Amino acid sequence: MFPIRRNRRLRTSEAIRSLVRENYITPNDFLVPLFVVEGNGVKEEIASMPNYYRFSLDLLKDEVKTLWSLGLKSVLLFVKVDDKLKDNKGTEALNPNGLMQRAIQTVKAVCPDMLVMTDVALDPFSSYGHDGIVENGKIINDATVEVLAEMSLSHAEAGANFVAPSDMMDGRILGIREGLDQSNFLDVGIMSYSAKYASAFYGPFRDALDSAPVDMIDVPKDKKTYQMDFANREEALRETEMDINEGADIVMVKPGLCYLDIVRDIKNTFDVPLAVYQVSGEYAMLKAAAEKGWLDHDAVMLEQVTSIKRAGADIIASYFAKDVVRILNS
Ligand code: PBG
Repeated sequence: MFPIRRNRRLRTSEAIRSLVRENYITPNDFLVPLFVVEGNGVKEEIASMPNYYRFSLDLLKDEVKTLWSLGLKSVLLFVKVDDKLKDNKGTEALNPNGLMQRAIQTVKAVCPDMLVMTDVALDPFSSYGHDGIVENGKIINDATVEVLAEMSLSHAEAGANFVAPSDMMDGRILGIREGLDQSNFLDVGIMSYSAKYASAFYGPFRDALDSAPVDMIDVPKDKKTYQMDFANREEALRETEMDINEGADIVMVKPGLCYLDIVRDIKNTFDVPLAVYQVSGEYAMLKAAAEKGWLDHDAVMLEQVTSIKRAGADIIASYFAKDVVRILNS
């Protein structure tokens, strides 16, 4: 009790503050999302994500080497698919020589120890821009799960270490796990987007991959019949529990900053590693405010990623990973 107890004693200098600091950010915290496109010599900036790029496979090699040299040892791959290759069932996703499969092989060839995780969902391959198959104005669950399981198998065959289903279909973790096990991919893990909310923060990502739901009759305009309602908290625990029971090795909350209550709930309830995805809109917001000179980019960035870790994240998927590590190293 005051005046015996003066909490400010533990804040009097940087030395004492760092001695009692509870959370540190290190390169080991990060999973780096990478966007891949066809072509040669392509490094195109994403308009709504300043200083973030889509890479063709040749330049992806350099990027992966750079990440490794910075101590960033895990990547999460996304591909931008030509419109001509898209259909309702995402058939191109199963092409053994497809862009994702070649991207996996490319990363493994230049950096065999890099942990390669792959996005599993139909939207980049779907002519309708949905994560599942569309039928009569609905996203059909079970037929989609079958495709997701095949897609996961195809990624495992190409050399992926983890598949990361981001689709929010029911039962997909079990379907994927059984598919992998039947083909003896016992060591290929699953990072499940367990509590993924129907969020307006995904806008820049959909620009990056040209994967937004299309505006057509009989095609749902949003993803609210499968992604979660952002008003819900209890439901996140039910979703996460199911995914763990179905075999998820890592669970995830997405987006990040607006959902840190969910992160702490899950951390306090389950004992599997927990990832948080700080999504494209969160990245874009800070970039825009910094460009206007309204926020100190680096200070806010460090505060944000540290807050995500403090909330309970074991793994942070973030477009800021490289920038953060550069600051840590300087
Ligand atoms: C697609 C997917 C999305 C993101 C990751 N995987 C978009 C969506 O669900 O519409 C968003 C990532 C981001 O915004 O950074 N299944």
